[in-house]
Amino acid sequence: MSKADKIKILCVFGTRPEAVKMAPLVKALQASDVVDCVVCVSAQHREMLDMVLDIFDIIPNYDLDIMTKNQDLAQITTKTLNGLMDVIGDVMPDLMLVHGDTTTTMAASLAAYYAKVRLGHIEAGLRTHNKFAPYPEELNRRIVGVCADIHFAPTITARDNLLAENVRAGSIFVTGNTEIDAVAFVTKDDHKFKNDMLKNFDFAGKRVITMTAHRRENYGKPFENIFNAVLRIADDFDDVEVVYPVHPSPVVQGSAQKMLSNHPKVHLIDPLDVDDLQNLMARSHLVLTDSGALQEGAPYHNKPVVVLREVTERPEGLAAGCLVLGGVDEQTIYIATARLLNNDVMYSDMCNAKNPFGDGLASQRILESILYYFGRTSQKPNEFNT
Ligand code: UD1
Repeated sequence: MSKADKIKILCVFGTRPEAVKMAPLVKALQASDVVDCVVCVSAQHREMLDMVLDIFDIIPNYDLDIMTKNQDLAQITTKTLNGLMDVIGDVMPDLMLVHGDTTTTMAASLAAYYAKVRLGHIEAGLRTHNKFAPYPEELNRRIVGVCADIHFAPTITARDNLLAENVRAGSIFVTGNTEIDAVAFVTKDDHKFKNDMLKNFDFAGKRVITMTAHRRENYGKPFENIFNAVLRIADDFDDVEVVYPVHPSPVVQGSAQKMLSNHPKVHLIDPLDVDDLQNLMARSHLVLTDSGALQEGAPYHNKPVVVLREVTERPEGLAAGCLVLGGVDEQTIYIATARLLNNDVMYSDMCNAKNPFGDGLASQRILESILYYFGRTSQKPNEFNT
């Protein structure tokens, strides 16, 4: 097929989690002979983004390189918006694809709207219905939803959220979450860790808790509460070791180093490559996190998650029994975690809960949905349904 007859798709992302979740889709688009795939990164994240691009062997066609230390939301928005208007003018895509709820995603969606380019939203329809939790992600994804022409909802719950907002049913495809595609790609029984501390870690003799905490709404007092709960868990359970790859944000680094760096059983390490992180979770006992992606990835490894937030936009995980809400109070986090460490029946029930987020085929479904939408096939792909 000549280049002119292909569907030209501009994929835009900027942070590590978007990159992880977009990477399998970019690979699927690149492999299709009906699609001309162009990649633009905002580089809202720099090193953490480059680590993912490297692992999935993706070389962006455009790199806006916007990251600055301690960037604020307005800077991310304006730089991404301005940069993308030029890229869109250059590429003239038939479709732009964005992912999830970051500020790169929101600004890119506005750019698509201003340029009157068709927009597809991957991981559409997640909602907490509280515009400050998570902040600013809940508002970001709602704005993207208003701009989007095609909505790739990972689950039926996400589709129902969109239908409740009067999104046209025919524009929604239920695909599963591409996080699971990516996690399956990097998880290996014989994985060799690159991180020096993990290379020699006694995974067989210890119960390892993988933890991450980085969200803006948890800055300040919630971080303090989370860290105090973790210190108590490390003190009270002899065989527990906590491994915390700390986000490079100066705010997160400052809080974590100040409160946790002196405990011998709490290991603060540099951010991990996606393959090290997933294989760390696979060898851990349980996961404590405020991240969205880890809530989806840990159940793939059959590991329970204590969610370090008041609410989650991933209620499927609560319903399936893979996640429990720990909140952001010291006592509630301590109790939720200690219960899992003390109660073997509860622990194994959570380990055995079925992953409701995806089956590793989301990227393929999204590609097929795009071909269907553009009339290149009459076959509508089957929905992902747990
Ligand atoms: C962003 C997303 C959040 C996502 C998270 C994943 C927004 C508003 N937030 O939040 O939804 O969960 O990414 O990490 O879009 N930094 C580096 N190197 C990097 C990355 C970050 O030094 O590779 C530092 C910079 O100082 C930067 C700070 O971290 O200013 C914060 O990064 P930013 O993207 O603004 O916010 P995140 O908290 O990462």
